[in-house]
Amino acid sequence: MVKIAPSILSADFCRLGEDIGRVAAADWLHVDVMDGMFVPNISIGVPVVKSIRQHTDMFLDTHLMVEKPGRYVKAFADAGADLLTVHLEADMPPAIHAALDEMKGLGVKRGIALRPITAAEAVVPYLCEGLDLVLVMTVEPGFGGQKFMADQLPKIAAIREYIEKYCPGCALEVDGGVNAETAKLCVDAGADVLVAGSAVYGASDPAAAIAALRGE
Ligand code: DX5
Ligand code: ZN
Repeated sequence: MVKIAPSILSADFCRLGEDIGRVAAADWLHVDVMDGMFVPNISIGVPVVKSIRQHTDMFLDTHLMVEKPGRYVKAFADAGADLLTVHLEADMPPAIHAALDEMKGLGVKRGIALRPITAAEAVVPYLCEGLDLVLVMTVEPGFGGQKFMADQLPKIAAIREYIEKYCPGCALEVDGGVNAETAKLCVDAGADVLVAGSAVYGASDPAAAIAALRGE
């Protein structure tokens, strides 16, 4: 069954613990880290992940929208992230490979993310080395509440094929503009993890919103 990962970017940071409790029915918790360089927004960093880790046992799916993410792999792993996802556009390929190697040594799960402009083929060399997750952005990263880019659906389908060929078992996550309608399109294209910020936290009943995203 598809996994749902609510993004705390849409939570109320003054009541973060309470807002994490409101999505306990979800599978993972999606943590958006933004540095004001790779994306124009600044969100949260290592100390917040550390506090979240002390508060919940949920799987922390940590999306690093950060330039040269290799600089922060150890810090986020030590803070308690379960999975770290780095953007292919955030550094040169050898540095991205090195960041993924470092994750392996630290025992943290390893993901790569693609901006909308980046082609599906870019994932192949990384899948061949073994990955836990590929994240396809269906908005320009940086902000919650944007419109789903349907032109990314063929890319999701193409990456699903690459995963089956080169790294079966790797998860395929979609992030940006996911709601009950677009969720179905993503799953039909091959996604098995859906991030949702505004669709969950903008709902009066987050548990019902999570069920709707699962197609229940
Ligand atoms: C955007 C973030 C997303 C964002 C999704 O850069 O990576 O995780 O929180 O928010 P919605 O679901 O509102 O598009
Ligand atoms: Zn994200």
